[in-house]
Amino acid sequence: RLSAAMSEKTPVGAGKSCLVGKKEDLIKAKRTSVSIADRFVFVIYHQGVFYAMDEHCYHAGGSLLDGDIEEIDKKLCIVCPKHKYKISLADGEGLYNTTNPKDKSQPPCWRSKGIKQRVHKVTEVDGDIHVTLSEAPAWIDSDYYQSEQGRMDLKLA
Ligand code: FES
Repeated sequence: RLSAAMSEKTPVGAGKSCLVGKKEDLIKAKRTSVSIADRFVFVIYHQGVFYAMDEHCYHAGGSLLDGDIEEIDKKLCIVCPKHKYKISLADGEGLYNTTNPKDKSQPPCWRSKGIKQRVHKVTEVDGDIHVTLSEAPAWIDSDYYQSEQGRMDLKLA
């Protein structure tokens, strides 16, 4: 359990904005990795929408850059290539399957672990794509893996 001081920490780079590139280039690339204020972020273009989130998975730091995208419980999720954790693209929610493996007759039942991966704001200005880092104050598990400061913050908590 995190201390009260930890939950009041400002996340690394909070509120910082960065020009990531031209919209047309990012659409072609589909996935782009960028470092903003010492924070690892990736930008993904999927089905006509840009999303940005911390690049390293909240579970054990695997890169999400090459993760498959699946629709789970009506939410588009990136599947971490390392251990297959599912993370919703829109809000960074961790989802897990509670289906009983011994009862194959039941449809998959998905539950939420809450917000586990920090997501960031994407805006378009005159054909350029900008990312503004999240200012949500409470600790989010992915904070640990995105910067040296994130790891220090947890050690000092
Ligand atoms: Fe992503 Fe384990 S590091 S699921």
